[in-house]
Amino acid sequence: MKLVHVVGARPNFMKVAPVLRAGQSIAGLIQVLVHTGQHYDPAMSDSFFQDLGLPAPDENLGVGSGSHAEQTARIMLAFEPVLDRHSPDWVVVYGDVNSTVACALVAVKKGIRIAHVEAGLRSRDRGMPEEINRILTDQLADLLLTPSRDGNDNLAAEGIPPARVRMVGNVMVDTLLRLRSVAAKRGMPERLGVKGADYAFVTLHRPSNVDDRDTLSELLGALEDLGSRMPVLFAVHPRTRRRIDEFGLTAPNGPVRLLDPLGYLETVNLVDGAALVLTDSGGLQEETTVLGVPCLTARPSTERPVTITEGTNRLVASRRVDINAAVTELLARRAGGSFQPGRPEGWDGHAGERVISALLESRTTVTATT
Ligand code: UD1
Repeated sequence: MKLVHVVGARPNFMKVAPVLRAGQSIAGLIQVLVHTGQHYDPAMSDSFFQDLGLPAPDENLGVGSGSHAEQTARIMLAFEPVLDRHSPDWVVVYGDVNSTVACALVAVKKGIRIAHVEAGLRSRDRGMPEEINRILTDQLADLLLTPSRDGNDNLAAEGIPPARVRMVGNVMVDTLLRLRSVAAKRGMPERLGVKGADYAFVTLHRPSNVDDRDTLSELLGALEDLGSRMPVLFAVHPRTRRRIDEFGLTAPNGPVRLLDPLGYLETVNLVDGAALVLTDSGGLQEETTVLGVPCLTARPSTERPVTITEGTNRLVASRRVDINAAVTELLARRAGGSFQPGRPEGWDGHAGERVISALLESRTTVTATT
């Protein structure tokens, strides 16, 4: 059996790593790794390959940045000949980025079966490009591999036959559990002068937060306030950096440190030691839950509700006053010791193996149900 795994953007790399590793031990399984090049800066791509021990991609499509239409179309054009060359049995796509939906759309029209890892998540916010990518990819996929039960429920509500759906758990958690102790040796808190201190770790990159001047200004104000309580380490995505400059906003300084995008191990090292995380990332909501670090997610909704019901996550409006109030409440709760690491079902370090098992078992069954 031959698999073509597709990755393109930063969060995909942590998800493919455990699946590739699990597949390596299966005799007769051929795996091809395709990188679309959606993310291309060394700090957004190469450093993740190194940290995760990923092999160099067999194919790099080098598509780069652009509008959604440009980027999606370029990925599709570049991916089609790759499929012609490799003729896989399955295309395996990950998460909810533009590379995910673009390659699924090419594969389905060529009659190649698609497995979607991290299927079924829904924020119900159609203003998020990722929500559109999720809905479309799930409609196209033959095998839908969900990270949590809510994913199965969402897919059932959309009329997707349960025979195509399998709960495998969270592949990102496989990577986190494998590399947590390696990350602990990175010495990031020492290097940034916050060892032993309470500090906050921040990432913000969603278009809804950073592409609107007023919202971004509110968020930077919130960071300034947070900086008066504890050191703030803000890992700044290139999109966010560009918007701060374009809008002529003043980034807070002093206790708020603006950092270039960090590698995976550096990030886990800092998150693991943080007093709190403020983010709009999907992956960090999950990682803070597993690490038992309180997390404030600056978004109106989340596609990862188990991080709230079973974990350490809480949603907050992207406004200075709301974030201030949420931080006060969170620090009081933390002083009372009420944050426990959460381990939703299947977040156990073995999801990658279950992805490979599902693919091997579906060799015959999936075609019959489509
Ligand atoms: C993408 C994903 C998002 C994910 C995020 C993680 C989509 C729709 N969005 O958003 O779900 O959470 O990745 O980072 O797929 N840029 C660089 N260097 C790079 C890549 C991007 O400078 O290596 C800059 C470019 O100015 C680019 C902008 O960042 O235009 C946005 O990049 P893009 O890939 O379009 O989306 P992200 O915001 O990174």
